Amino acid sequence: MNRRDDADLPWLAERERPGPVLRKGAGMTPLAWFDPRGRALGSFAFALNRITALGLVLYLYLHLGVLSLLLRGEDAWGDFLRLATTGAFLGLDVLLLFGLLFHGLNGIRVTLVGSGVVPERQRALFWAFTVVGVLALTAGAVRIVGGG
Ligand code: HEM
Repeated sequence: MNRRDDADLPWLAERERPGPVLRKGAGMTPLAWFDPRGRALGSFAFALNRITALGLVLYLYLHLGVLSLLLRGEDAWGDFLRLATTGAFLGLDVLLLFGLLFHGLNGIRVTLVGSGVVPERQRALFWAFTVVGVLALTAGAVRIVGGG
């Protein structure tokens, strides 16, 4: 079989056409957004950066909503704190920490590469920040779940 059948994957052929923009070509269905084939590491990082960005925006609004419970008095806040210290909720805190670390560290990587400080080291930076992120996430998760 060929390395790739362009008739089956027209958007891959479009993507490889020379030029500054990766085109979404003719014949591409919306499902192609979710097709991981032929994508480089940077594409996955970009997708996860966007997903974590949306998660952080959602969290910001939730956070403001939760803080507004303070206006309803001590009982409402106490009820929320009881919920916030359950195992499931603490798991969401760890997920939030993951989103913050990925988005923040990837943001620094994109900035360093895009601004020309280290233009040819984007993969190395990705893995270096992954190590930093995993260490920070592990330390944070231990503190969140362990109550330290
Ligand atoms: C921790 C510090 C942060 C850093 C260093 C950072 C950095 C960045 C960078 C560099 C981009 C552009 C990425 C690209 O062009 O490929 C970006 C996108 C974005 N960031 Fe952040 N960010 C941070 C925190 C946040 C927070 C807290 C939020 C939400 C409340 C947020 C929401 C977004 C959104 C919505 C986008 C657009 C994503 C997209 O278009 O795919 N960021 N960020």
